[in-house]
Amino acid sequence: MMGCGFLRFSIRVLLVLLNLICCCRGFDPVDQYYINCGSSTDVVVGNTTYVADSSASRYLSTPQDILADSNLNSITPSDDSQLYRTARIFTGPSRYTFSIRENGRHWIRLHFYPFVYRNYDMNSASFSVFVQRTTLVSDFSPQNASVREYSVNVDRGDLVISFSPSANSFAYVNALEVVSVPNNLIRDDAALFNPPGPFTGLVTRALETVARVNMGGPLVSLVNDTLGRTWVSDRSFLSQPNLATTASNIPAVRYPSGGANSDTAPQTVYGTCTRMNSADDPRSNFNVTWGFRVDRGFQYFIRFHFCDIVSSAANQLLFNVYVGTFLVAPDLELTARTQGRLATPYFMDFVTPSMDVNNLNISIGPSPRSAYPDAFLNGLEIMKISNSRDSLSGESNLPSFPGSKNRVGLIVGVSVGASVALVLAGILFYVHRRRKQERLGHSKTWVPIPVNGETSHTMGSKYSTGTAASVASGLSYRIPFAAVQEATNNFDENLVIGVGGFGKVYKGVLTDGTKIAVKRGNPKSHQGLAEFRTEIEMLSQFRHRHLVSLIGYCDEKNEMILVYEYMENGTVKSHLYGSDLPSLGWKERLEICIGAARGLHYLHTGYAKAVIHRDVKSANILLDENLMAKVADFGLSKTGPEIDQTHVSTAVKGSFGYLDPEYFRRQQLTEKSDVYSFGVVLFEVLCARPVIDPSLPREMVNLAEWAMKWQQKGQLDQIMDSNLVGKIKPDSLRKFGETAEKCLADFGVDRPSMGDVLWNLEYALQLQEAVVQNDPDENSANVIGQLSPRVGEFNNVENSNSVAEFDTSSVDDLSGVSMSRVFSQLVKSEGR
Ligand SMILES: *[C@@H]1O[C@H](CO)[C@@H](O)[C@H](O)[C@H]1NC(C)=O
Ligand SMILES: *[C@@H]1O[C@H](CO)[C@@H](O)[C@H](O)[C@H]1NC(C)=O
Ligand SMILES: *[C@@H]1O[C@H](CO)[C@@H](O)[C@H](O)[C@H]1NC(C)=O
Ligand SMILES: *[C@@H]1O[C@H](CO)[C@@H](O)[C@H](O)[C@H]1NC(C)=O
Ligand SMILES: *[C@@H]1O[C@H](CO)[C@@H](O)[C@H](O)[C@H]1NC(C)=O
Repeated sequence: MMGCGFLRFSIRVLLVLLNLICCCRGFDPVDQYYINCGSSTDVVVGNTTYVADSSASRYLSTPQDILADSNLNSITPSDDSQLYRTARIFTGPSRYTFSIRENGRHWIRLHFYPFVYRNYDMNSASFSVFVQRTTLVSDFSPQNASVREYSVNVDRGDLVISFSPSANSFAYVNALEVVSVPNNLIRDDAALFNPPGPFTGLVTRALETVARVNMGGPLVSLVNDTLGRTWVSDRSFLSQPNLATTASNIPAVRYPSGGANSDTAPQTVYGTCTRMNSADDPRSNFNVTWGFRVDRGFQYFIRFHFCDIVSSAANQLLFNVYVGTFLVAPDLELTARTQGRLATPYFMDFVTPSMDVNNLNISIGPSPRSAYPDAFLNGLEIMKISNSRDSLSGESNLPSFPGSKNRVGLIVGVSVGASVALVLAGILFYVHRRRKQERLGHSKTWVPIPVNGETSHTMGSKYSTGTAASVASGLSYRIPFAAVQEATNNFDENLVIGVGGFGKVYKGVLTDGTKIAVKRGNPKSHQGLAEFRTEIEMLSQFRHRHLVSLIGYCDEKNEMILVYEYMENGTVKSHLYGSDLPSLGWKERLEICIGAARGLHYLHTGYAKAVIHRDVKSANILLDENLMAKVADFGLSKTGPEIDQTHVSTAVKGSFGYLDPEYFRRQQLTEKSDVYSFGVVLFEVLCARPVIDPSLPREMVNLAEWAMKWQQKGQLDQIMDSNLVGKIKPDSLRKFGETAEKCLADFGVDRPSMGDVLWNLEYALQLQEAVVQNDPDENSANVIGQLSPRVGEFNNVENSNSVAEFDTSSVDDLSGVSMSRVFSQLVKSEGR
């Protein structure tokens, strides 16, 4: 026993030490293989050892052992790299097998440099390369030196890279790398813009790096990138270089506490930009455009990196960002997304539709709403996404003619060629690796696309009875009253699935079989009309996988009908208490909270002006058939503060038990009011009880108050849902409790942003799932460090006072009741 205990102690000490070492070295990939192919000696490049794959290699299986050596001491540009001296030649199908210790995305980099070895002229080689079932290239003939970078999601177990020569040819490779990618570098929530909507499933797709560009700056080699990536200069991609100029202020760059960090892109990338050469001409009106080669039939992932190093003050510069001819970010104002701070990195992800041409233009241009015409871009990454056949090869969906192979090979060669020499130059050294625990936040946006100069209310949905064309054309989507009647069996009372202040909600089925939820407003309610409009406005502008989508609306005959996607599993609240639905597990609950946090984070940051939901509660978070959480009910939402203000003054609205005491006292609304309400939801999810329960003893009535007492004693486990007892890892519970506590800070400024909340919840999930990997205390400290200043003593008394003024004794569960009416009587406000 004692021996065992000592051993465990030692291992723990060792882990802590390792952790400290890793901490100094930065991100430390769990899996990393660097192979010097066709060689019997290891090669050290910078600080990285590329291991020889000579016959003793346990990685390689090949029919013939052909180690090609160029025997040249100077092959251009060989001075930079010994890796290109040797190559492994494959005359038949061959494979490298690497064992993978950690699931997730891994980089696979293949290095090619053709030379002639005996009767093998590598310039004429042609072959295909596969990773697991994904085709990376087929019938490929590398020209000159090239490095091809892919990233593929792999499960634990073996990763197999296979080389398969084309008929009558052979395959070769000079070096290869398999390296873990930080988990959060590429997340599953990029936005599609045409038609708009979320793009799901990115995690499972393989990607090929097409371009990684440092705008307005020089090559940033892998030495200067925490993840060993290479960023090339944008000069050669500019369509009209004379229209562009550059700016640089690398020392000014300050990473935000959440969102982009130095793993997203290095300071040297964010600190330089290419901007409009408007040369103080206030009439300047042109775009700066970069052109990239792409393959038809594929979708592309595009990440824009921005950092405003050109403005002298916040809120001055607005500009437009286009992908092709699509305006993906109209009137982009960076400081609105970086808490008003200049020189703060920010990134946005998009996914293109399937390409039907061979080039992709990225443009930035002036916005008429800006104080002066200017636009800038700091960095850009373009990645090809594997198609439905799990292939990244050539052009998709095009018939392949005999002879077309070489053409494809050539295009590939040319497109890669441009950046290759530069990449090679960077191979010299290796790299500081950054710490993995640093969570990458994420920003994405979807915005309505102006059509014919007018902002459309795009409500397209593949479920709607409208055609794709009506969706793409951006017309508002009205649904005929007759169709709604038919779908709901003429508003059959048996189909009612909910009743709220606004009216009744019916379940329905459209003629195409799509299930819908129909919210029919009470036409007499004046209040209702405003909420109806707000909801249409909000939902048509904001599309996100964690926001309930609006399929359409109907305003015929004075009706106020909203038609939403049907959420199979109803409200989160109904899964917590007051129903006989089966109890949710901890992981499910965390995932639900994470989903909802993501939706709210998007509302707060996804558009130039923050949108405040104002009625965040468990009854407004819905679950689809996979228990994916979506935030609903935008009737009360308000556009958030302008940059020069810090709040929106407005009548107090919201739901009892969830209401931000500060908002209540001061009637000033900020995003932090949603954060407060969300904190209450977190406790509700943990404790599975109503947020106001007048049947309980006085001190227990208000959940927020009650839970905070136990959280501050560190004894949340005493009051949590009995179904969860013994099922939550203490670290996960602790992180969760701390997060909720911070959300409930008395003053908005002390509360974390929704982004911080999101990362902390994700961390709580990791802690729940973690099999002793790292020292939890150490990690935990790191994540806490990213939150806003630590919340001091929470002032229970003040909080309770502001809520306790209302006599709750006669009501059962007020938490579900929208308080807009209640408060309109209590608070002098609306003037009617
Ligand atoms: C890269 O880092 C080296 C030192 O580590 C520095 O001298 C060099 O200027 C950096 N290059 C760029 C482009 O920042
Ligand atoms: C910039 O490019 C977009 C997309 O091609 C186009 O719609 C817009 O008119 C251009 N703006 C200017 C000023 O040329
Ligand atoms: C991209 O821009 C170039 C030059 O501005 C233009 O010739 C080309 O047609 C554009 N390509 C597409 C697909 O719009
Ligand atoms: C390969 O290199 C040669 C000589 O440097 C050059 O002429 C040729 O254009 C290059 N080919 C490609 C496809 O880049
Ligand atoms: C390589 O290792 C040496 C000593 O181990 C260290 O001083 C140097 O900073 C490292 N260089 C890089 C690029 O990591």
